[in-house]
Amino acid sequence: MQNPQHELRELESLLAFYRDAGVDCFLGDAPVDWQEHTRRQAADRQLQSTPASPSAAAGEPVSIPAHNPPAAAPLRQQAPASPAQVAPQGQPAVIPDREIIASARDLAASAATLDDLRACLEAFDGCNLKLTAKKLVFSDGNPQARLMFVGEAPGRDEDLQGKPFVGRSGQLLDRMLAAIGLDRSSTYIANVVPWRPPGNRTPTPQETEICKPFIKRQIELVNPDVLVFLGAASAKNLLGVQDGIRKMRGRWMSYPVAQREIAAIATYHPAYLLRSPLEKRLSWRDFLSIRSRLSSQ
Ligand code: URA
Repeated sequence: MQNPQHELRELESLLAFYRDAGVDCFLGDAPVDWQEHTRRQAADRQLQSTPASPSAAAGEPVSIPAHNPPAAAPLRQQAPASPAQVAPQGQPAVIPDREIIASARDLAASAATLDDLRACLEAFDGCNLKLTAKKLVFSDGNPQARLMFVGEAPGRDEDLQGKPFVGRSGQLLDRMLAAIGLDRSSTYIANVVPWRPPGNRTPTPQETEICKPFIKRQIELVNPDVLVFLGAASAKNLLGVQDGIRKMRGRWMSYPVAQREIAAIATYHPAYLLRSPLEKRLSWRDFLSIRSRLSSQ
């Protein structure tokens, strides 16, 4: 039999491993079919709200009426479908759909300044990531900068501080900026998704689509001369290119905004460079190219 002290130490180190790996919520060991669960919940609700019919009592399928959102409500809210969708404060989760994406687009377009845009995001309840994130991670740096970086989504440190790229990958980014004579006061930094996905998972395509109008408007409002995508995800989402980062990085492209084309380039994400330090030599080339583009424009 194992010594209880030893067992406790093993448990503590397992927990520390999970924490370092970014795990921040426990869902359970057995897989759950949440679609089936949601259907059952809806059927139960229907049974409770309508007098029992002979067919329902006999266990035949219950038809669920189509959900028609009220015309005046831009965001469709629905009873929580899974623990992952339940807000810590008990707010109902939002099921992403076209209406929400359209309302995100309208809201983002209505922002005349970066402060407006931040306020719009603070008030926006259309993205479930907001339910689990601690803070909105809007931006860091100088809104007047000629150089703007766009990452994918915040991680744990960013979520705690409410600023992008402040963890280990952000520190590497700072060193890379310093290598070309820049710092955060001469750059503006944001992410495609401004809320941390739980456990640092990749944002889903729906979450990204919902957040995209906001980052697009943010780029328009900053209107930099040079736009740098950190990693393939942000470049793919905002430029619509399908190439992998190895093929895409270091190539000058253009990003269209209302009145002009912004020079854009993708480079390796600093988190990838931390795992693959040999690739830093290629990033160094990209950063030199960024510096010369800034001085030639
Ligand atoms: N990775 C990102 O893409 N963005 C951050 O803000 C931090 C890490």
